[in-house]
Amino acid sequence: MSIPDNVHALKRPRHIAIIMDGNGRWAKRRHLPRMLGHQEGVKAVRKVIKLCGEMRIEALTLFAFSSENWQRPEQEVNYLMTLFLNTLKNEIDKLTKNNVQLRMVGNLEGFNQPLREWIDKSQTLTAKNTGLQLVIAVNYSGQWDIVQAAQKIINQVKAGKLETEILTREIFAEYLSLADLPAVDLLIRTSGEYRISNFLLWQLAYSELYFTDILWPDFDEHELNKALQFYTQRERRFGCISEQLAEINA
Ligand code: IPE
Ligand code: IPE
Ligand code: MG
Repeated sequence: MSIPDNVHALKRPRHIAIIMDGNGRWAKRRHLPRMLGHQEGVKAVRKVIKLCGEMRIEALTLFAFSSENWQRPEQEVNYLMTLFLNTLKNEIDKLTKNNVQLRMVGNLEGFNQPLREWIDKSQTLTAKNTGLQLVIAVNYSGQWDIVQAAQKIINQVKAGKLETEILTREIFAEYLSLADLPAVDLLIRTSGEYRISNFLLWQLAYSELYFTDILWPDFDEHELNKALQFYTQRERRFGCISEQLAEINA
């Protein structure tokens, strides 16, 4: 893997990805239903989008619903779908006004018709915006992403548009969900879990990983700054040694 273009600008991530975990435990600690934890989680989402926009972060990818989350109790899944639809409806004007470009990644075929319509609508409405590129991963899993890329490649080969011999890492990556975005520089996971839970796999190849015990609804400006502070302290070597980086940055 070669050194990415942004190796010089190490101090601020271009692309942040977040596994927003801990809504349920946040509610449980307060003897509240899990659903209220999810509601509070939306408030934290709003804050972090605003902050990243203000900080001129290029891209923010949020894990909102994994392919595995369908296995939760039906009542919770239904609640999350309704919350998701209502949040889209409520927030779209503000996102448009704030110049946010929104896109959803994941297997969108898994969603009901009203939700799919609003997903299409919100993506179309914000498509020309030039500010923060906001990606919401829904019904997403990293393994799904790799398989769907492989399927598209197979179809291209069958159609005679791609030759298998020229399939390189770069060409493969073009078929993945976040192909046009800079690589993920910083991954944040809340709630004290130290796992990736089938989120971005390929795209995290060289990301810095930040884990915090904070539960997602409590994630705020202070916590984001702590994550960014952690990031600035990393030396991103991409396989090289420190002395080489000093030369590159000279
Ligand atoms: C993350 O919070 C939100 C989603 C997965 C939709 P959780 O609901 O996983 O919260 P915990 O892990 O049960 O605390
Ligand atoms: C990961 O959280 C998915 C999202 C944040 C959307 P989970 O709470 O589903 O992860 P696991 O199952 O505990 O690993
Ligand atoms: Mg969880």
